[in-house]
Amino acid sequence: MTRGSKDPQLTIDDIHSNPACISKAITTRSGLELTFRPIQKTDAAMLGRYFLGLSEELKALYAPHPFDQATADQLCAAVETDFIRMVGVLLGAQKQEASTSSARLDDQEQGASTSSARLEGEGRGEGEIIAYFILQLSTPPHEIERYANVGVAITAEDTCRVAPSVTDAYQNQGVGSPLMQHIAWIARQLGRKNMVLMEGVYGHNARARHYYQKTGFREVGTFTPTWSAGRPCFDMIMMLD
Ligand SMILES: CC(C)(COP(=O)(O)OP(=O)(O)OC[C@H]1O[C@@H](n2cnc3c(N)ncnc32)[C@H](O)[C@@H]1OP(=O)(O)O)[C@@H](O)C(=O)NCCC(=O)NCCS
Repeated sequence: MTRGSKDPQLTIDDIHSNPACISKAITTRSGLELTFRPIQKTDAAMLGRYFLGLSEELKALYAPHPFDQATADQLCAAVETDFIRMVGVLLGAQKQEASTSSARLDDQEQGASTSSARLEGEGRGEGEIIAYFILQLSTPPHEIERYANVGVAITAEDTCRVAPSVTDAYQNQGVGSPLMQHIAWIARQLGRKNMVLMEGVYGHNARARHYYQKTGFREVGTFTPTWSAGRPCFDMIMMLD
């Protein structure tokens, strides 16, 4: 069992035995209806399609692991104790609607709504995965040290890490924002006090930096890792208290 430093309402064991306890029906501000839920064994083919469909541009910004079918197979078969992998699955028959709706998005800032009743009630099957978020329940020493160097004290036990992605065709439509809010809710239920970015965010990734700020993260430091070809990255943290 993995516990944080606050009293958790949920443990990873609870989630393994009942994945639905962290699943949520989400309607985005543009009207897309999604289920946001943990990956399951039967998702391998669908997750593989998501991975293989990601653009080179996206993969240059987001590289937590290889994006191939073998990785999708492995992740869906695994029972992980330190990671929760969530997928945003579009309910059936919305693809056309989504591709024609972007023109009116700017006028629809009323925010996302959620409704599990609607998901149960409509009886529509799942369509495709359009988002994949990794939540790591602990934080490794090298990341803790970087935060300590800028005066932010975090521990492996009280701080989780997140790595979000929304597939290219659905970016900038208000999909990622409600999903991040729900990830923060899960982290709180697990007793975590803070959430940080997995290996930071590239300084040149202006959209992600704006997205993180808008969803409650603040920038606390900059660093240039060996793998970034000299490009600076930013550490960002969300306080979950
Ligand atoms: C980052 C990401 C997860 C956000 O998901 P999303 O569904 O696109 O997010 P949203 O639509 O909810 O919000 C995106 C915001 O960025 C804004 N944005 C888009 N391009 C931007 C730019 N070049 N500069 C600044 N802001 C920008 C959008 O206007 C929107 O903000 P608003 O709602 O205030 O108008 C998604 O874009 C993604 O997967 N990007 C590629 C992978 C990546 O960078 N992952 C993070 C690695 S650290």
